[in-house]
Amino acid sequence: MPDRSSLAIVLAAGEGTRMRSALPKVMHAVAGLPMIGHVLKTATGAGIERFAVVVGKGADAVRAFAIKTAPSASVVEQVERLGTAHAVLAARAALDQPADDVLVLYGDTPLVTAETLARMRTELAKGASVVVLGFRPEDPTGYGRLIERDGQLVAIREEREANEGERAIGFCNAGLMGFRGDAVLGLLDAIDNSNAKGEYYLTDAVEIANQRGLAVVAIEAEAAEVGGVNTRVELAAVERIWQDRARQQALLSGVTMVAPETVFLSHDTVLARDVTIEPNVFFGPGVRVDEGALIHAFSHLTGAHLEAGAEIGPYARLRPGAQLGPKSKVGNFVEIKNAEIGAGAKISHLTYIGDAQVGAEANVGAGTVTGNYDGYDKALTIIGEGAFIGSNSVLVAPVTIGDGGYVASGSVITTDVAPDALAIARGRQVEKPGWAARFREMKSKTKRVRV
Ligand code: UD1
Ligand code: MG
Repeated sequence: MPDRSSLAIVLAAGEGTRMRSALPKVMHAVAGLPMIGHVLKTATGAGIERFAVVVGKGADAVRAFAIKTAPSASVVEQVERLGTAHAVLAARAALDQPADDVLVLYGDTPLVTAETLARMRTELAKGASVVVLGFRPEDPTGYGRLIERDGQLVAIREEREANEGERAIGFCNAGLMGFRGDAVLGLLDAIDNSNAKGEYYLTDAVEIANQRGLAVVAIEAEAAEVGGVNTRVELAAVERIWQDRARQQALLSGVTMVAPETVFLSHDTVLARDVTIEPNVFFGPGVRVDEGALIHAFSHLTGAHLEAGAEIGPYARLRPGAQLGPKSKVGNFVEIKNAEIGAGAKISHLTYIGDAQVGAEANVGAGTVTGNYDGYDKALTIIGEGAFIGSNSVLVAPVTIGDGGYVASGSVITTDVAPDALAIARGRQVEKPGWAARFREMKSKTKRVRV
């Protein structure tokens, strides 16, 4: 829709009391992103230029998040809750600046797609003054029913005001609506509150537009796309649908998952072609995986980047700032945080590497720990290219192991190791020939105490 200007009004004033939460409803996350973030992101992807976000009283967290996500958004407060039309009119200042297309979206309806928003805008471009998004829920109870005549939407009847015949209609109002910018204020200002709830119903715009001879249409979306969230049960249902969609997209884009239903993606997970993901893997925010990487079962990744051909797990934990070079390997029960792992380096078992640089082709043995924290500050460990760290060593940071350096197993390294040197930092072994046999002989003469 390149030649039409656009404005979205996002209603985010819901109290969300049924969420039983200290957090405003629209701030509850789906795939790691607050629901309102999904709406803003999708609308931005659909080419919406301007946003007005309507928040409830004192919703500072929503305000801050909306501005961070869509910096041009204006955030307005709906102080009294007098109905959906009243909520939209809280954004009157934004509506006063004309846009060709005005969409009303809901911060608690995060699964709506860019394609659907584009379809709504197409109807406006074709001449509709009002477009309503409809769907056919399994159980229509509680929803406004869409009453159509010859392809024109003539009214939306709220459940409370509907007669028996109208209640039998299965085609329902999802809530999302679109308006031609030159008609929207005239319609909204004509809405009154003479109805069962004493509220200003946005849905009344449909009958008013009909009285004025304007074209009004309903388009249909999948029920799964317009599900709103009022409880954490619905939040979990929305999460399931989101995950299914994202898995499907990943599979179609060339990712192998043997049990996709056990892999949990984040809103911003980026997976390249020929990545393989085994069962039971969790992606937190900020993960990028390059071509051909292999993620074994039960791994947990957040804020990490795997370069081409890297391999992790099973049971690997990558925390923010983990950067794994090409063909590097991070094995089972290994935790990596804020560390660059060079190409081909191997950290195969039971290890913690935090605040570190590990050179290409280095080999870090089982049970290695970087002592990166003294209770106050974090310090850096540098392991040079091709270095070898023997098992069960502690590298007390700040410390550098030079290129090709070698650390003997069981060492506690507190000072730098020169390139190609061997460092041994442990008790020297003492051997006493025959001691064990003598010990047993002596003990066998005394009475054994059973415990
Ligand atoms: C509304 C629609 C109904 C539709 C249903 C879909 C109206 C009159 N009815 O009914 O046709 O089938 O949604 O879920 O629009 N809100 C405000 N401020 C207000 C009132 C509401 O921000 O003063 C927000 C609510 O937080 C909610 C949304 O608008 O997110 C819808 O309001 P709600 O009271 O849930 O309307 P419904 O009766 O569900
Ligand atoms: Mg509702």
